[in-house]
This record gives sequence, C-alpha cells and structure tokens, in this order.
Amino acid sequence: MVSIGQMLVATIIMLIYSWQLAIVVWVCFAPLFLSLRFFQRKLSDAYGMVRRQVGILLSAVSEPVVGAAVVRSYAVEARTQRRIDDAIEAHKAASTRAQGFTAFSFSLGGISAGLANAGVLIVGIWLGFAGDITAGKVLAFAFLVSLFVGPVQMGTQILTDAQNAIAGWRRVIGILETPADLVDPGPEGATLPRGPIDVRFEDVTFAYPDGPPVLRDVSLDIAAGTRMAIVGETGSGKSTFAKLLTRLMDPSEGRVLLDGVDVSTIAHASLRRGVVLVPQEGFLFDDTLLANVRYGRLDATEDDVRASADELGLGDWLAGLPAGLATRVGQRGESLSAGERQLVALLRAHLADPDLLVLDEATSAVDPALEMRIGRALERLMSGRTSVTIAHRMSTAENADEVVVVDKGRIVQRGPHRELVRQADSVYAGLHASWVAQQGPSR
Ligand SMILES: Nc1ncnc2c1ncn2[C@@H]1O[C@H](COP(=O)(O)OP(=O)(O)OP(=O)(O)O)[C@@H](O)[C@H]1O
Ligand SMILES: [Mg+2]
Repeated sequence: MVSIGQMLVATIIMLIYSWQLAIVVWVCFAPLFLSLRFFQRKLSDAYGMVRRQVGILLSAVSEPVVGAAVVRSYAVEARTQRRIDDAIEAHKAASTRAQGFTAFSFSLGGISAGLANAGVLIVGIWLGFAGDITAGKVLAFAFLVSLFVGPVQMGTQILTDAQNAIAGWRRVIGILETPADLVDPGPEGATLPRGPIDVRFEDVTFAYPDGPPVLRDVSLDIAAGTRMAIVGETGSGKSTFAKLLTRLMDPSEGRVLLDGVDVSTIAHASLRRGVVLVPQEGFLFDDTLLANVRYGRLDATEDDVRASADELGLGDWLAGLPAGLATRVGQRGESLSAGERQLVALLRAHLADPDLLVLDEATSAVDPALEMRIGRALERLMSGRTSVTIAHRMSTAENADEVVVVDKGRIVQRGPHRELVRQADSVYAGLHASWVAQQGPSR
C-alpha cells in the first residue's frame, strides 16, 4: 500500500512538472504493469508446483527410512536411490522454473526503470531544445523517476514473495478444509449406558472411496453379552466390519445401532469409553510399556496397570521383563516381539474396560506357549461384556457362543461352531478343514 501510494504521489508530481515526460515514464512501465497478472498466475502455478514437489520429496525420503529392512532385504537400494534422486531432480526443476519467473519479473522491472531514465533524459533534452522545459525541471524529473522506480521494484518483490506464501497457505487451507468423514455429535449426542452392549446392523453396505462395495446388505443382531466370532477368507470384509462397528468409518448405506442407538448419533466421548477396537496390527508408541498400556485409560495408576495385568494372568510375564513396566518398546514397538505386542494390546484394552470389545485377531503366528497365554488372557478379557472377535484361530471360533461367516462382503452362515461345522460343503466347513490341516498332528 505504501508503494502504491508513493507511485501515485510521484505520478501526480510528475504530471505537474511535465505531462509529456510523465507519459514517457508510464509508457516504459506499461509492459511490466500489463504483464503483472500473467506473472502472478505463472508464479502462483510455479510455487504451487514447488510445494507439491517438496511433499513428494519428503515421502520419497521418509518411506525408505521406515521401510529400511524391506529395502535391504530385497536389495532394492539402487531403485530406492533412483526414486529419491528423481524426486530431488523434480524438486530442483520446479524450483528453477519458479526462480526463473521471479528473476524475469525482476529484470523486467530493472529494464523498465532503465528505459524510463533514458527516455526521460532523451525526451527531456529534446523538449529543452524546443524551449518547453528547463534543465532544472529535467533534473528534478530524473529524481522523480527514481521515486517512482523504487516502489515498482519493491512491488515485484512483494508479488513473488506473496505468490510463494500463498502457494504454501493454499496447501495448509486445503488440509484444514478437508471435510471430516466422521462428525462427532459432541455433548449433544446420545450416551451409551454402562453394561454389555447389544449390536444391530441394518442393511449395511460399505464401499471404500472409489472402490466397489466390500460389504453388502449386512443385517445382523448380536445380543448383549454374546461372544461372537466372525470368520471368512482373507479380503472378505471382516476388518471393514470391525471398523464400521466401532465407527472408525460410517456405512455408505444402512445403519449400525448400539443399544438401539444409531452410532453416528452417539457422542464420541461415550462411544470411545464403551467401545474398544483392538486392531489387527496394534500400534505402540515409542515410550515405556506403562505409557503404552495407559492409552487404554489415561488416568490409570501403575498399580491399576499391575492389577489389570494380574487379572489377565499376565503378571508373571510383566515381572519377567528386564525393566518391567518401565521397559521401553522402541519405535512402533520394535523392541518387543510380535506376540508381546499383542499382549500389550490386550492389556491396553482390558484397562479401558469396554462394554463392547471388538478384536481383530492378529494373523501373525506366535509360539504355542504364548498362544495359550493369549487365549487365556482373551478368555478373561471377554467375560462380562459383548465381544466380537475376528477369528484367525480355530480355537476362537470354537469357544465363541456364535460364529458369523462372511464371504465376499456378505453374511453366508451363522450359528454355533458345532452346528456350522456339520453343514457339509459350506464356507465354514471349508475354512474349518483348512484350519485342521494347518494344525496338523498337534491337535
Ligand atoms: N483402506 C482401504 N481402501 C480401499 N480398499 C480397502 C481398504 N481396506 C480394505 N480394502 C479392501 O476391502 C476388502 C476387504 O478388506 P478387509 O480388510 O475388510 O478384509 P479382511 O476380511 O479383514 O481380510 P484379512 O483376513 O486379510 O484381514 C479387500 O478387498 C480390501 O482390498
Ligand atoms: Mg483384516
């Protein structure tokens, strides 16, 4: 604004001194002013591209760091290096292009200023010879030109800086304005009463964005306190079912009801208190075991955690760890074994004390002793609440009150294990046969 004011004032004084010379100055700057809009658009595109390339570059660098073991074990270092190099090249090219436009608009300002100075002197001297202007006025005018040029150059600088800043701002706004998939009804929402929860799926269909439906017309009732197992082939939609049940996603069609209330109307605070999902691959934070278990209930004391571990029969395991609850688990829990991570996940869920426990069993195999330990812990974890377990182990399905069989996104069978296993040629019979074969002579 100061620059524009200064340019206006300079123009007015120039007009007072000599309108002819004022026209000369404006003609020299006309190409710059006329092309400003063009430069602004180009700069905006170019800096937008730079921002995107920074994003690509960061992911190209960070992914191989996270997946270093995979990169090394498949010996794809060269390919990974190429990907990073390409991202760096692309970023460099985008930056060069943006800097090119910046430099060009600057030079255009410089050239315009030079032309204006030369033009004023030539036309001024020519007018002087004609007797229309004095030498003093021409000199004064030369000073006015520099008063005019300063803000123009400042303006082009601001223009490029602003385009760069706006490009970054647009990316931030883009993220902030992404509509939330799940809306928390907040304190106005319904609250779940304590005690085992009953579940109802009403004609639920779900498709991931731009994908085909992975669950179709699923209708299901689970009575409060039931121990339900869900089984099905890989990719049949079991984990998707679990995410809908715990409202990590909303169905594309149909409704999910907990205690007769549509989950989308339940306040998140109440929903998260009453419903806990133990995901297929639990996530541990780079902290102590205690801190990780406490994610289940933030105000739990160390004694609460110990008591909770004892209840699950994990007290001796905890005591056997080198630093007990103070053991550090490393990034994503890397310092623990896969089985130990599962135990931490169970402990966390137990501490949360949910009324509906949804358990996506890990597919990773553990040794038989740990398997039994997990089995026993699960048994205790499930008692007194509604539980829905996505079963990858036969024992889970056998011990459940009821089993639901999912196939290609539909429920195809339902009933207790002993009934389902008798239905020859059914999906469940097939799954059971392959389980038995897998267990081999040990069963
Ligand atoms: N985030 C996602 N985006 C798009 N498609 C997905 C996503 N997650 C899962 N799918 C697809 O949805 C289908 C069902 O996936 P889901 O994870 O529910 O299977 P699952 O029954 O849990 O399998 P598994 O036994 O291997 O755990 C699969 O075909 C999968 O490719
Ligand atoms: Mg799954």
